[in-house]
Amino acid sequence: CHRTAGSLLSSSESSQRVLSGMRPTGRLHLGHYHGVIKNWVQLQHEYDCFFFVADWHALTSSYDDAHDVEQNTFDMVVDWLAAGVNPGAATLFVQSRVLEHAELHLLLSMITPLSWLERVPSYKDQQVKLNDKDLGTYGFLGYPLLQAADILIYRAGNVPVGADQVAHVELTREIARRFNHLYGREPGFEQQAEAAIGKMGKKAARIYKELRRGYVEQGDAEALERAQALLAEQANLSIGDRERLFGYLEGGGRIILPEPQALLNEYPTLPGLDGEKMSKSYQNTIALREAPDVVDEKIRTMKTDPARARRSDPGDPANCPVFSLHEIYSDSDTCKWVVEGCSSAGIGCVDCKKPLIEAVNVEQDIIRKRAEEFEDDPDVVHSILQEGADRARDAARETLEDVRAAIGIGHR
Ligand code: TRP
Ligand code: SF4
Repeated sequence: CHRTAGSLLSSSESSQRVLSGMRPTGRLHLGHYHGVIKNWVQLQHEYDCFFFVADWHALTSSYDDAHDVEQNTFDMVVDWLAAGVNPGAATLFVQSRVLEHAELHLLLSMITPLSWLERVPSYKDQQVKLNDKDLGTYGFLGYPLLQAADILIYRAGNVPVGADQVAHVELTREIARRFNHLYGREPGFEQQAEAAIGKMGKKAARIYKELRRGYVEQGDAEALERAQALLAEQANLSIGDRERLFGYLEGGGRIILPEPQALLNEYPTLPGLDGEKMSKSYQNTIALREAPDVVDEKIRTMKTDPARARRSDPGDPANCPVFSLHEIYSDSDTCKWVVEGCSSAGIGCVDCKKPLIEAVNVEQDIIRKRAEEFEDDPDVVHSILQEGADRARDAARETLEDVRAAIGIGHR
């Protein structure tokens, strides 16, 4: 990722910001929980996080069957909240409540070559996969561009996503680069940058100039880093001036839309009941809010190591999806007990599954209870989303003002 360093560091706001979205698929399953939501819960304390429901994205492929989008949105947000996503720490909202995404999408569409969208891998893949549906639509082609707008409108430096979304973040970076290249060179940029230097303290201004010379004239990378750190510390610079001075450092124009970075979810994919990746479309999931007896039933009938056809056959936990769940839910003593008992046929699969069922249910009890509270009082959820949309809109508007002005339609 070396190429990202310049633009990422060029804004401390941006590197502190995290954005991610999920299409409204309704109630979540354990794959979402361990793969995505737990990660969000962690990030919300370390970054300025924006998490949203990508309901417009759902329309790109479900345009003829959207009657459940609202219910799915509600159910999914209840799961986020129940799982520990905290509206006091993170901004939660629904995409279609923040119209600014649509304006940036439109503006970006002006500079996006069709060929960039056509070559995004998911474009052709999904058309083949969902071949019973006409996805030769304008909206579907624009899916990743709408995603780019989602990210860039918050100048989010970090985008936690699964591996399947990395190509979309990569496209976002290309779009940002193109935008900055086309519009970052405002007329009078040099004068404005010099004026901004004047707004720093005398000493800081002198150091900035020295470091900039070191980088621009001698390519001294350390000087660049020190200058970036210096700028990040300047409390009395406006965001615009700071961005300008970051851009000025690197010789180029102003960075209006910083390039984001994908933060790959670190959890391995969770196996489902059949051992394949847990996914709604495979119907092999355990829901986050599954009823206790259903958890029991699903795990009891879950696939095990095929080598253990009989109780007396030894098995290998490495070939068993049940063990993958143990690794998440059980302490090391229990895992050791499984490994030894399985490979020596000392325990049966029924024995092995028992503590797992218990552990899943203990965790789910807490989540189920919290979810119930939100279900009983849906207005709480609605007002969380309303407040989130208001906060998101404020942040989005700041970016849009810069974007409009840079393009030349600021009209002020
Ligand atoms: N395309 C993403 C998915 O299917 C959802 C999404 C929409 C998203 N906009 C985003 C994810 C912006 C991260 C950032 O999972
Ligand atoms: Fe899987 Fe446990 Fe059975 Fe071994 S004993 S095959 S780990 S369920």
